[in-house]
Amino acid sequence: MTVKSLIRGSLRARLILSFATAILVPALITTIVGVQTIKKHGYGQAQSKINSDLESAKEIYASTLDRLKDTLRIHATRMVLYRALSTGDRAELGPEMERIRAEEGLDILTLVDARGAVVFRAANPALAGDDLSGDPTVQAVLARRNPVASTEVVPEGVLRRESEALARQAAMDLTPTPHARPTDQKRLTAGLMLKGGAPVFTPNRQFMGVLCGGILLNRNYTLVDKVRTVVFKDAYYHGLETGTVTIFQDDVRVSTNVKGPDGARAVATRVSEEVAAEVLDRGGTWRGRAFVVSDWYLSAYAPLKDLDEKTVGMLYVGLLEKPYRDSLARSLALFLGIAALGVVLLIIVATRVSHRIARPIAEMALAADEVAVGDYSQRVVMRGTDEIAHLAEAFNRMVAELQDTHHALTGWTETLEQRVERRTAELKAMQAQLFQSEKLAAVGKLAAGVAHEINNPLTGILTNASLMLEDLPPDDPRRPDLQTIVDETLRCRTIVKGLLDFARQTQPQKTTLSLNKVVEDVLALVRNQASFRNIALRTALDPSLPPVMADQDQMRQVVLNIVLNASEAMAKGGELHIASLRDPQRGRVEVSFRDTGPGIPDDVKARLFEPFFTTKATGTGLGLSIAYGILERHGGEIRADSSTGHGTIITLALPEGPHGG
Ligand SMILES: Nc1ncnc2c1ncn2[C@@H]1O[C@H](COP(=O)(O)OP(=O)(O)O)[C@@H](O)[C@H]1O
Ligand SMILES: [Mg+2]
Repeated sequence: MTVKSLIRGSLRARLILSFATAILVPALITTIVGVQTIKKHGYGQAQSKINSDLESAKEIYASTLDRLKDTLRIHATRMVLYRALSTGDRAELGPEMERIRAEEGLDILTLVDARGAVVFRAANPALAGDDLSGDPTVQAVLARRNPVASTEVVPEGVLRRESEALARQAAMDLTPTPHARPTDQKRLTAGLMLKGGAPVFTPNRQFMGVLCGGILLNRNYTLVDKVRTVVFKDAYYHGLETGTVTIFQDDVRVSTNVKGPDGARAVATRVSEEVAAEVLDRGGTWRGRAFVVSDWYLSAYAPLKDLDEKTVGMLYVGLLEKPYRDSLARSLALFLGIAALGVVLLIIVATRVSHRIARPIAEMALAADEVAVGDYSQRVVMRGTDEIAHLAEAFNRMVAELQDTHHALTGWTETLEQRVERRTAELKAMQAQLFQSEKLAAVGKLAAGVAHEINNPLTGILTNASLMLEDLPPDDPRRPDLQTIVDETLRCRTIVKGLLDFARQTQPQKTTLSLNKVVEDVLALVRNQASFRNIALRTALDPSLPPVMADQDQMRQVVLNIVLNASEAMAKGGELHIASLRDPQRGRVEVSFRDTGPGIPDDVKARLFEPFFTTKATGTGLGLSIAYGILERHGGEIRADSSTGHGTIITLALPEGPHGG
């Protein structure tokens, strides 16, 4: 996993997650609280409406009863009535009673005398004289002599006496209803009536009888429709009545504007057992959701009581729940929609913001990764002027500084490496020199011992051979051999002398002398020798060369050895340049001998100062090693610069003497 994807994967995810949490938790709480509030508000509104609707319905019902009572009270004062009761003059009674009944929209209108016997029945004039003193309304008026009105259950027999039509209107076959109270009753025969009565007095306040009237509520929809009109304004919702009103006789719907599935008024169905228990049995009011016929209604049921305060039926108002539920659903949908939109918007914003934060960081992480593996050219792009941009700028600055530091460090490392190299080379050279010196010292001791031992016998051989040669006549055939002995012995002596020179460990007898002078002396010595005939000698001696403290003989020997080597290297002729100069920085005097000979191959150069190392058939290999030893003892230096084909430069260096200048 790259740093980039890691950052992308975690930092961004974490940012978005925290944003989402910060957004979603309040959104969730708001939604829950909002939904609860809307629900409570919506249902609360509906509930308080249904309560007031029930009150209105009860009011209308009560006022209908009052109107009935007033109607009867007013008509009870008619002369036709008390005259019929007091004088028996009933000529006008029949038409008058019928007129009143029809005008007031009453189903029954009956005149009863003071003993409770029927004087005239408007609905059934043929039947009269029967005793109605047991009728609750009649009984109440007889007892109180005041008008009364109430809801009353009227038995089938009583209805039939009024009219067959009335009995038929009341009777209904019960429709089996789920949740209703179990019953064996199949048919309702009694009727529920708004019933009232008023006392009939003579003008001198003599009680004569009772005018009794009633309206059968069964299948009479005037009252329920009036209540619906007044209370619910006959509103419809998707073809459904928003408000419904029902009058129950006991638990049976006898008058209603609730429609059944067939579209007809749902009379003869029954109320649920739960409602019946509360309202009919306990005389209370029931409120709540109720499934009425085919829909849910917010419902309220109030008891209807007769004169004895006995519950004989119920008045119901129901508010179709669907509009409330739908509006609630719409409110919820709207609310949730807005909440969801908010969440989506916030998530978009959060994503963008986190992207804006995470991307530069991811870029920086990637760049940092590259920097870590040594790519200091990395820079991140800055956007805007916020903290992230500031960070990016700081990052870039940091990398730039890192780059500089790295460069400086690399430079130091390089110089350091060079220094180490140089010092190592110096050390190596010194070691080699030391090794050389030790070797020379060892060989020198050996050589000195050997030379000393050989020198005496050699002198003996040479002396005797020379004497013998002198004694022999010039033509003696042994002369050449003897001459060879003398020559070879002389050669041995030269070698031995060289060895002794080389081995001579005596400290130099230092005097102040000029190296220019030494060079000139040696050149004067060799110039006329045969081996220098073809060699051009050129000198460039610094006249202001400071003197040195050195042993004159030893210095002459060194210069002679070098010059002889040069002549031997240029057997067929060439040039020898000798230059002296002062090196003020190191406080030294240098003399260089440059020839135009064949130069020195590398393998030879390595062994140049070794005693007995020679490339010449008759060489001793001691010339340069002696020079080396002498210069070492003078605190000076001898070195050779050469390569094959470019001649050789031998350089001597000695410290400046005390009287410089
Ligand atoms: N100027 C020179 N040019 C070329 N080779 C030289 C020169 N000087 C010295 N050499 C080499 O260094 C060797 C050692 O010199 P040296 O010690 O003087 O011994 P020798 O001269 O007896 O050989 C020589 O044999 C020769 O190969
Ligand atoms: Mg030599």
